[in-house]
Amino acid sequence: MFRFALVTDVHICNEEAPYEGVVRKLCHQALPLLGDFVEFCNQQELTFAAQLGDFIEDIPGSVESDRTHFQSGMRVLSGLRAPLLSVIGNHEQVNLSVDEICSLAGLETPYYRRTFKGVKGVRGLRGVRSLQDDSALDVLVLFSSSIEHTDIHISAQQMHWLEAELRDCSDSTIVLVHHPLDEQSLLGNVWFEKYPHYCFVEERVALRKILKESGKVKAVFGGHVHQTSVSRIDGIYYVTIQSLVERTEAGAASSAWALVELDKDRLLMRLYGAGPGEFELCL
Ligand SMILES: [Fe+2]
Repeated sequence: MFRFALVTDVHICNEEAPYEGVVRKLCHQALPLLGDFVEFCNQQELTFAAQLGDFIEDIPGSVESDRTHFQSGMRVLSGLRAPLLSVIGNHEQVNLSVDEICSLAGLETPYYRRTFKGVKGVRGLRGVRSLQDDSALDVLVLFSSSIEHTDIHISAQQMHWLEAELRDCSDSTIVLVHHPLDEQSLLGNVWFEKYPHYCFVEERVALRKILKESGKVKAVFGGHVHQTSVSRIDGIYYVTIQSLVERTEAGAASSAWALVELDKDRLLMRLYGAGPGEFELCL
């Protein structure tokens, strides 16, 4: 069994800019909430923990503020006992170069692969003990470039890399990428209903074809949309998770994150914070 925790769209910033007249991201709460996520993770037996991008809220023209906010977040995540995977989002790309983001996040390259060994004897979310112990989980982290928010691309070079890596991956492979690769509904979404061209990776049809033809990818996890969504295309689950700091109708931050268990034949995802729930997905 593999167990991992995901948090996304943390939007660390010390000031909050209204969006179309309404404050929707409670950025000043990002660091304490990220601390809560770390504390939660450290109570679990995790294969890894990941933040799925938009780690900071950019301040127009202020490289120094963005850098400081990124460093503050990384200091909080340094308290994780589990390995950390970082995904690059669009807000960190506005003022910071890709090289600097990688340096701040401790990454050698903006897209990469990690392989983890399964753990045995772990008590699962539903109380079942996993006996699977000799498997490997491959995690492919993609980099969707986007500076102007409308120019969301995954390069041809990266797609070639993805195809080559997949040939060598195990049958339990997942993908992490900030921007969605599916076609989920944006109806009622306060950020993207009117602006779908701000939302999805432009090369997503070609990317989905690569993932499908590998026969190895179980699920793709991301953020950006600020909504929790699960869709299934060609046998692969495409999941997005609500932002940690999204202002709920009650006025508080969502405090959302996900805990995922992956077995050979099942993916179980438990959501925490506002809008809690559980998904059991057959593989
Ligand atoms: Fe984003």
